Amino acid sequence: MLEVYGHGGDVESAALRFGLKPGQFTDFSANINPLGPPPGMLEGLRAALPEIIRYPDPGHRALLSLLAERHSVQQAGICVGNGAAEIMALILLAVAPSKVGVVQPCFSEYETLSRQFGAEVHAVCGTAELDYRAEPEQIVKLVASSDLVFLGQPNNPNGVQYGVRQLRQLAEAAERHGTYFVIDEAFIDFIPPEQRQSLLPELERYPHVILVRSMTKFYAIPGLRLGYGIAHPEMAAAMRSKQVTWSVNILALRAGEISLQAGEEYESATIAAIAAEREYLRTELVCMGCEVTPGEANYLLLRLPEPWTAGTMQEALGRRGVLVRSCAMYPGLGGSHIRVAVKDRAANAILIREMEQVMGGEQG
Ligand SMILES: Cc1ncc(COP(=O)(O)O)c(C=O)c1O
Repeated sequence: MLEVYGHGGDVESAALRFGLKPGQFTDFSANINPLGPPPGMLEGLRAALPEIIRYPDPGHRALLSLLAERHSVQQAGICVGNGAAEIMALILLAVAPSKVGVVQPCFSEYETLSRQFGAEVHAVCGTAELDYRAEPEQIVKLVASSDLVFLGQPNNPNGVQYGVRQLRQLAEAAERHGTYFVIDEAFIDFIPPEQRQSLLPELERYPHVILVRSMTKFYAIPGLRLGYGIAHPEMAAAMRSKQVTWSVNILALRAGEISLQAGEEYESATIAAIAAEREYLRTELVCMGCEVTPGEANYLLLRLPEPWTAGTMQEALGRRGVLVRSCAMYPGLGGSHIRVAVKDRAANAILIREMEQVMGGEQG
């Protein structure tokens, strides 16, 4: 298993395992925009390099102003962090929940961070019939019996959304029970705006709802780390009060500003490319006998045909320089689930070719 730290994208572990250099892999185990960062990013960061002799703005003011404008929310309701991961930690520090609820299968940090901060974690589980969504009534019960609930939207690893009416039902339950409802929208930017199911436009109605956004995936800057939370101003202030000053570095702030000013063309080109390439991958994978969950994000969850397991496929592909994410450790999934990122056509064709070859019995 390559997920020694619990996540995909670990090319260092893969390099040790398969004897290649980290940069030599075609990595489908992390879900990063295949178009790369927006135009002007590298030049902008190069130009910003001399600024590293100064402290970053502890108030993140330039980025906050752009985010507030983009989402039509007040700056006081936004908290900028060192990746969506830090935002989740700040939420847990601000709320200090005793009982956290998660909807499995899901991003493992919901549970890991909650335990790190001393909470007890309980879960409800999605079903194959609902593409690994849980029944909304079950999540309502989870909300009623927790201090805080995490939900991925779209969820990782299955890539599916809950409808906005279901989210409303959950948010209303959260308000009734005084439970914080954290909706992780780390991948929502990859979905066409008209198909996004989000409570963002009606957030004022739900003071217990906190939206988590990542800029590392869509803008292809996971190494720089940048994310933010959108919440009631009191909640956002509570999160900021728990943050280590300067945790967001000056280059990450600059990268965020460049990203938000990059223009609509890059964003719509990304969304179009992901939709087309996801369909290509889905069709090819189904032809190979894989069961593909109809995800809407820039990754696909699939069940391999027998006798393949996540472990044997990851190993066979890894030896050929191709990395996929084993999902064998996700509660609620079986040992033959893997997740693959949607990349550009050249890379996706490599995945399909290599999978066909290993499944056809050809050795690398
Ligand atoms: C569902 C989900 N949320 C959040 C994150 C963390 O995002 P960031 O890189 O912004 O910390 C990840 C990273 O893989 C993720 O899969």
